[in-house]
This record gives sequence, structure tokens and C-alpha cells, in this order.
Amino acid sequence: MGFKEEINKRRTFGIISHPDAGKTTLTEKLLLFGGAIQEAGAVKSHKIKRGATSDFMEIERQRGISVSTSVLAFIYKEKKINILDTPGHKDFAEDTYRTLSAVDSVIVVIDVAKGVEEQTEKLVEVCRMRKIPIIVFINKLDREGKDAFDLLDELEKKLKFNVCPLSFPIGMGYDFQGIYNIWGDNLMFFKEENKQKISKTNNVLDLNGPELIEFIGENASNKLKEEVNIIKEVYPSFEKSDYLNCKQQPIFFGSALNNFGVKELLDCFIKIAPSPLPKETSERIIKPHESKFSGFIFKIHANMDPKHRDRLAFIKIVSGIFKRNKPYHHVRMNKRFKFSSPNAFFAEKKEIIDESFPGDIVGVHDSGNFKIGDSFSEGEHINFKGIPNFSPEHFKYINNKDPMKSKQLSKGIYQLMDEGVAQLFVLEMNGRKVIGTVGALQFEVIQYRLEHEYGAKCSYENISIYKACWVENKLDSNIEFNEFKKLKQKFLAKDKNGMLVFLSDSVFSLEMTKQKFPSLNFHYKSEF
Ligand code: G4P
Repeated sequence: MGFKEEINKRRTFGIISHPDAGKTTLTEKLLLFGGAIQEAGAVKSHKIKRGATSDFMEIERQRGISVSTSVLAFIYKEKKINILDTPGHKDFAEDTYRTLSAVDSVIVVIDVAKGVEEQTEKLVEVCRMRKIPIIVFINKLDREGKDAFDLLDELEKKLKFNVCPLSFPIGMGYDFQGIYNIWGDNLMFFKEENKQKISKTNNVLDLNGPELIEFIGENASNKLKEEVNIIKEVYPSFEKSDYLNCKQQPIFFGSALNNFGVKELLDCFIKIAPSPLPKETSERIIKPHESKFSGFIFKIHANMDPKHRDRLAFIKIVSGIFKRNKPYHHVRMNKRFKFSSPNAFFAEKKEIIDESFPGDIVGVHDSGNFKIGDSFSEGEHINFKGIPNFSPEHFKYINNKDPMKSKQLSKGIYQLMDEGVAQLFVLEMNGRKVIGTVGALQFEVIQYRLEHEYGAKCSYENISIYKACWVENKLDSNIEFNEFKKLKQKFLAKDKNGMLVFLSDSVFSLEMTKQKFPSLNFHYKSEF
């Protein structure tokens, strides 16, 4: 197969949802259709259940499992599907944001009873920022939930979607009878079956055929026809280019647990979802068909065995062919690296490969050199964009509890930050270290890992910070900027890349500062 065909057959995407909407279940069912697993349940639920904040065994278990489920690849109808796993727990949201820098499209799972939830809104916002095409799967139709039209309204209002239903439910919960598949123009009836395996016993009917009444009765049949008419009148018809340009979001209904509506979703997905897309660098846009290899690290995983501190770095291939043992240029370090045993992912296994193509993810051994966001090339100076840090929500001073181990502590902190566990800010005034996290759980993770992997002990001390803002001077002149730096000295820090950050202690003080220094921009993320 030629290089172009290899690229065109790839679909690299992520499934995102509020916890418990059914992301794991849907992932599993997709793998089942791809023949990557034989029975559902093979990929263990890899989420940290809410409330388990102090269960370190659970954290460790999660780390272990998530290495193997970080990328789930399989072949379906001659397409190579790469699903990039995103953690469900909200405290790991930043991990999910970063993973979204490596996908070409996403499927959003919504619980029919709960509708659009908080985490969904946040994740969709990140997708919008990154211009990622979105398909929606409304899940759990076998349960009582919201009215389908109300849900479509909610998607329009809360997520600013321009919805385009490509399937529509017949009844719901107790009365759930099936789905009219608008995309394929047929009807499927729901029958509770073996949830763990695929069976092909769904009836496929014509909406206007005589059997419809026989199957669902006259009332339901009339109601369905009415609803389908409304859909055709009210909602736009599907336009692939609008979907790809994020101007339209196709909607599917189904039940992941019951394997219902999943195949329809997958069949449509492989037809409409984009193959690997060009990616922006600070220097230029890189196209997947370019002959020279380029890629970037979007995730780093520490080894589970504390005795071996090596790590696995995940590289998304953007262009060219990645080859085993070929030296590549690491742009930030201006150094060449070659990888003798790069891993590719297939189903829930990983294996050493000789070459890989755009859209694929390779896992490479890292002895502590790499950082999330690092770019690789065949020599060109390029820096991939789209992996910003966001302002953390929680901040604490980190202190050394064992003066004999200060070197270990410092190394541990920096390596954990490179992995993206949390963010480090070093105060300009006195060099004290402040750790910022998305969720409270990370503080415990850091403390635990520093002790078990680096033999260092830390303690935390409260600090009152509202947001971290990356500061940009809009003017050529530094007069105002210098005045700001003098006045706010106490609140200034450097992030891990040496960028200036204003750690504002309240909404009020941030607003006042903005007013006082109009020539400065205060950003909640490190890329602007
Ligand atoms: P997540 O990854 O988005 O957090 O969700 P997950 O797939 O783990 O699903 C959350 C719960 O919802 C699970 O039940 C799962 O079985 C259930 N579920 C998923 N899809 C459907 C569906 O189509 N219909 C119904 N009725 N339930 C569904 P659980 O009891 O929390 O976990 P488990 O013990 O079944 O694993």
C-alpha cells in the first residue's frame, strides 16, 4: 500500500464525555466491532471512580491500565482506527486537553437522562478552540431520559452546536423500540440480547414499508413519521464539509451497553471522519503527506516499576514515515535521538514496529529527557502548537520534608511536571515552588510518587491564589510592563518554560490589575 493510501485509511480520534455517560462502554463496543477483542469486559474499566481520592492502589492501578489503553487501535472495513483514551476523572482533565491535541476528530457521549453535563461543556469548549470535528452519541436509550427534541435543543443552546440528527429513537426507556437510521434510511428494532457479543439479528425496515405498523403499531408508526418529517424540516441536512469545518454536528442515538446503534455510528464515522489533518507549528503548517517525518509528544507515562525510572513518551506522527533506528531531531534540545524499540499499539497490546504513518501513535523509551509538547523532525526547526497549559484551579507551596533528599525532591518534581501531572511555578521574589493542579487528587498523587519513586518527602502549605495568568506585553515599550513587575513582584512567577506568570489572589485584584495596566494581556493559558 502506498504512503498516501496509508494516510487516507487512518482515523485517529478521542471519545469524550462527562464521567459515567458511557465512554468506556462505547470504546469497548467499538473494539468488539473491530474484532480487536472477542468479548466486552476485556478492556477493564480504567477510570478512577469518584470518591476514591485516597486510594493510592487505585491510582497505581489506573496508571498501569492506562498505559495499555492509552491508544486502542484496530482495523474496521479496511480503515485503521486509533482511539486515544482520555481519562474520565475530572482531576485529570488537563491530560484529556492534551490528548485532544493529537486527535483529528472526537465522539462526544451524552447520557440521555442527564443531557449536557459540566465536563462535557468544558471538553467541547477545548474541541471548539482546536477546531476538532465532533459527532455526538446520545447513550442509554434503554433507560428513561429526556425527550429527544429537548435534548437536541439543549445541545444547541449549551454547546452551541448546529445539530444534524443522523438517527432518531423510537420511544425510550421502557418503551424503547428501536432507531430510525436517517443516515442509512432504515429502521432497526431493539431487542435485549447478549450484551457482550455482537449479533446481527436486528430487523432493518423501510420507513414507508407495510411492516412498520406490524412491528410498532399504528400510533407509534404515525408518531415516528411525524417526527422524521419535523427533523427533515427543522434541521439541516448533512453536509460533510460543514461537519469537517465544525459548523455542523451529526447526532446518533443508541445504547452502548446493548450494542444498539453502535455499528451505525461506526459505519458513518469511518465514512465522514477526517483522515490525519495538517497541523500548525509556530513556523508553518505541516501536511501529513510531506515526505519528511515530524511529530510531537502529547503524553508521557512513567514506568510502573519504581526501580526503573524510564518512561514511555507518546508521539503523534504528523507527517512522513517514522522509522525504527533512524535518527530524528529533537527540536527543543537540538539533539538527535534514535529509537531502537518504538511501540505501536494494537487493541490493548503494544508491539515493536519498524515503521509508522501519520495519524499513528508510537510509544518511545525516554530516560527523562522529554517533555510534553516536544517536537521531532528530520532537522527542520519546528514547534507544534496546541498543547498549552491552562491555569490550574488549586495551588499550594511545596516544601521539602527531608533536607537530605533535596536533590531527589527537585528531580522528582521536575520529572513529574514534564509528565504533565501538575504545573510548577517558581516565585520570582524568593524562588519558592508553587504547585498548581486541576484537581485536589494530584497533590496526593505527587506526594505519593515523590516518596515511592524518588525517595523524597514533601509537605504542602496553603497559598491563596485565584488564577495563574500568562502575561503578554502588547506594546514595544517596557515602561508599563516594568511598573507592573515592580508593583506585583510578590505575585510573579516563572512557569516550567520560563514564561512570566501572574498568580493573582482574587478576581477583584485581577480585574484591578487589568484596568491599571491596559497594555498588558492576561491569558488563562500559556499559548496565545
Ligand atoms: P464512562 O467511561 O463514561 O465513565 O462510563 P462507563 O462506560 O463506565 O459507563 C457508566 C455506567 O453506565 C456503567 O454502569 C455502564 O454499564 C452504564 N452504561 C453504559 N452504557 C449504557 C447503556 O447504553 N444503557 C445503560 N442502561 N447503561 C449503560 P456501572 O454500573 O457504573 O458500571 P459497571 O459496573 O456496569 O461497569
